[in-house]
Amino acid sequence: MLKIAVFGSGRGSNFKAVLDAIQNGELPDSRIVLVVSNNSDAGILDLARAAGLPARHISQKLSGSEEAFTADLLASLRAAAANLIVLAGYMKQLPSSVIAAYRHRILNIHPALLPSFGGKGMYGLRVHQAVLAAHESLSGATVHIVDEEYDHGPIVLQRTVPVLASDSAESLAARVLEMEHTVLPEALRLFAEGRVSVVEGQSHVHVISLQE
Ligand code: GAR
Repeated sequence: MLKIAVFGSGRGSNFKAVLDAIQNGELPDSRIVLVVSNNSDAGILDLARAAGLPARHISQKLSGSEEAFTADLLASLRAAAANLIVLAGYMKQLPSSVIAAYRHRILNIHPALLPSFGGKGMYGLRVHQAVLAAHESLSGATVHIVDEEYDHGPIVLQRTVPVLASDSAESLAARVLEMEHTVLPEALRLFAEGRVSVVEGQSHVHVISLQE
């Protein structure tokens, strides 16, 4: 059973897409056990509470120090018995000890075709502005396993959308977001069905295979 903790900083539409997929029976053997935000007024917390799910505001500022913040995150994850973390618009880098504690069990959704248009500062409309400035004909959504580098780690699933000549950053963002809402539940289904495996080399992940 996937016991998913969703982390987000904003409106929470990807969280909602996952919740809908679970409620519609499209994501078997999975439930959301915790929602975490670093922003007290994030829409994702309101959506989670409205759905009757445990929703927690956990931030470094509230916790007082990075160590206390990390301890609060780990304690909440353990209390909820989470075995998978989904970063759905979480605009903060996870502490390295959380990444280590959930190695290969943290997914991130990014609104572009990684490894392009990712990294620090690449979030929200900036991603789509950069795609337009580079005159790309395709963009898309990427779900990847999180490692210690920002927007980096083995890719689980990627889907493209066209970039139109008439696009603004906003119209492209809307097209990509619609794709995100399909790709994220799809990637989680692969996990729930045990079809994603990460094969480790000496000290780094080098192969990810989808078993047919
Ligand atoms: C999504 O587009 C997600 O891909 C992006 O933030 C948005 C969150 O929307 N994440 C990043 O840019 C991470 N680098 P949501 O709160 O409606 O799910």
